Parts: sequence; C-alpha cells; structure tokens
Amino acid sequence: MGSSIKEGISVVRDAHRLSVAPMMDWTDRHCRYFHRLMTKRAMLYTEMVTAPAVVHGPKERLLGYSDAEHPVALQLGGSDPAELAAAVRLAVPFGYDEINLNVGCPSDRVQSGCFGAVLMERPALVADCVAAMLDASDVPVTVKCRIGVDDQDPEVVLPDFLARVSAAGVTHFIIHARKAWLQGLSPKENREIPPLDYDLVKRMKAQFPHLTICINGGIASLDLARELLDAGLDGVMLGRAAYHDPGSVLVGADALWGDTGGLDAFATVEAMKPYIAAHLESGGRMHQITRHMLGLFHGRPGARGWRRVLSEGVAKPGAGLGLLDLALAEVMREAA
Ligand SMILES: Cc1cc2nc3c(=O)[nH]c(=O)nc-3n(C[C@H](O)[C@H](O)[C@H](O)COP(=O)(O)O)c2cc1C
Repeated sequence: MGSSIKEGISVVRDAHRLSVAPMMDWTDRHCRYFHRLMTKRAMLYTEMVTAPAVVHGPKERLLGYSDAEHPVALQLGGSDPAELAAAVRLAVPFGYDEINLNVGCPSDRVQSGCFGAVLMERPALVADCVAAMLDASDVPVTVKCRIGVDDQDPEVVLPDFLARVSAAGVTHFIIHARKAWLQGLSPKENREIPPLDYDLVKRMKAQFPHLTICINGGIASLDLARELLDAGLDGVMLGRAAYHDPGSVLVGADALWGDTGGLDAFATVEAMKPYIAAHLESGGRMHQITRHMLGLFHGRPGARGWRRVLSEGVAKPGAGLGLLDLALAEVMREAA
C-alpha cells in the first residue's frame, strides 16, 4: 500500500469522528456544500445511489460534486458483487474519499431489489459484495448497517455480521443502533419506532477493537456526540439533527477535533451567496439550494421569520440573492 493511500485512510478515519449521514433527497451536492461551510472536518455522505443507476445512468449527474465538499463519501446501494464493482470503478475517477455500502435502508423499493437492510439476513452476500468493491479500487470501502432486522436477535446477528464482513476486508462500520422492521413500518417509522440500543454498539467496539465502529441514530446534540466518543466509539454519524438544526450541531462541531473549524450561521449565509449566484447563472433554481438552508436558525429567535421569508419568497418570479438579506433581516428583527 502506497503512503498516499495510507494517509488517505487516516484522513478518512479522522473525519469520521463526526459525519453527516446519507439521506435520500436531502444530502445532495448543494446540501453538502452548505454543510461544509460550517464544518471543515466532518465526513459528508452522499444520498444513496444504486449500483445499476451508476452503471446505466448519467454519471456526471449522479456522481458529480464540488471539490469544496471533501472529505466526501459516496454511498452505493446494491447486492450484485459484479455490478457494485463496476459502479466503484466508474465512481473512482470522481475522487471520493470513501465508498460506503448501504445495508440499512428499509424502503420497499430497496427491498425489492434485495439491497439495503434486508442484506442483514445475508452476511455472506455482503462479504462477497465488499470483497468485489475492494478489489475494484484502492478507495476505502465501509458498510452502514442496522443491528438486525425483524425477529433477528441483534446480540447474535450483529457480531456474526461484523465478523464475516470484516473477514472480507472491510474494517470500518457505521451502525444505526436500531433494528429495521421490514414489514409493516414505513421508512420514516423505521427511523423512529424500533428502540435504540447504544450499549450493543459500544459492546461491538469492545469485542472488535481493531475495527472502526461509528454509531448512528438519534444523536441530536454535540454533547451526546462527545459522550459517545468518550465511551470509546470511533465516530458519530448524525442525520436528521444535522439537516434540521445545522446551526447547533455543525457549527462548532470541529471542536471535536480540537479545531475552531468552519463558519457560524450568519457567515455561512454570506458564503452561500456566490455559490447560489453561480447556480442561478447556470440556469438552476434558487429553491434547489435554499430548501436545505431553512433550518439554519432552528431554535433561535427569528427562526420562523427566516424560514417563512425564504420559503415563500423563493417561489416568486425573479427571486434572487436579495431574498437572503430579507430573510436575515427577519432574524435580526426578531432577535432584537
Ligand atoms: C430523509 C432521509 C433519507 C435517508 N436516506 C438514507 C440513505 O439514502 N441511505 C442510508 O443509509 N440511510 C438513509 N437514511 C437514514 C439515515 O442515514 C440515518 O441512518 C437515520 O436517519 C438515523 O440517524 P439520525 O437519527 O441521526 O437521523 C435516511 C434518513 C432520512 C431522514
């Protein structure tokens, strides 16, 4: 292994102290650019892209992103080793810092293609998938999984899963600390109803100390993030809190690395202006970017005015950067 690859891996490991979860329809490139302004250090995940889509679909649209987003991980969905390997080879030139396999998503569409959380029942197939992905490139391959599905016993299934998949060469797992129930719950309910079991994930780190184990699920504050890191876990992954309340959990997050880090909420708005201007210039719509910014002042005076001005104003003809100033004025007014 060349030294640059080794360095790459250590940067990626380090970045995982805190990461922003893959979220379909949410963590697109605009969202990641926005998040990156607030945290220079966190690993940012793409939405899941299926391997067949990468192989057969428009590469630039599915895989393109801005250099400013690094470190960034591509999440793939799939269960055909050859197809996943082909997708990895196609993704490599885009320069992702990591490629992640989704073994946690319970949606029907994903189940019918036999990928996502249903793969918790097929660890041998997951091992084949990651072996093929690792063979296809030098980019680190990681797995995001659940603690089990349906009536599986997580105490039995999870260590077996980690043992078998790590034997195929993956050393880095992100564990969403709740089961997925494949029948009867919507994807949204599957993120809320099955109980969280952080202790089990901590025990997995104790049982597999050589593996990088990151925990995910219900982490809504930097205090809890720090507590879980102090408990010995290698990283915390935040999903909904990062999206809905980035001003609390991404601004200041770089302190987890002992770094002063990125911009505060107001400076982030300013720094988004040239990015939005370039997007408008190239024929894009403002809403495609500002929809990710609605939660920026969550929980602070003016949050409601910010959200209202931005969401109502963006639909009006000719909406431009001035709208951000109008929305900011609401924040100032309500805060005064
Ligand atoms: C809108 C939305 C879309 C999601 N899409 C994905 C996805 O594409 N891949 C994936 O592995 N998990 C997906 N998830 C699950 C999150 O990555 C994460 O595991 C889950 O939300 C629990 O973390 P949290 O409690 O911090 O939100 C999604 C979650 C949400 C809210």
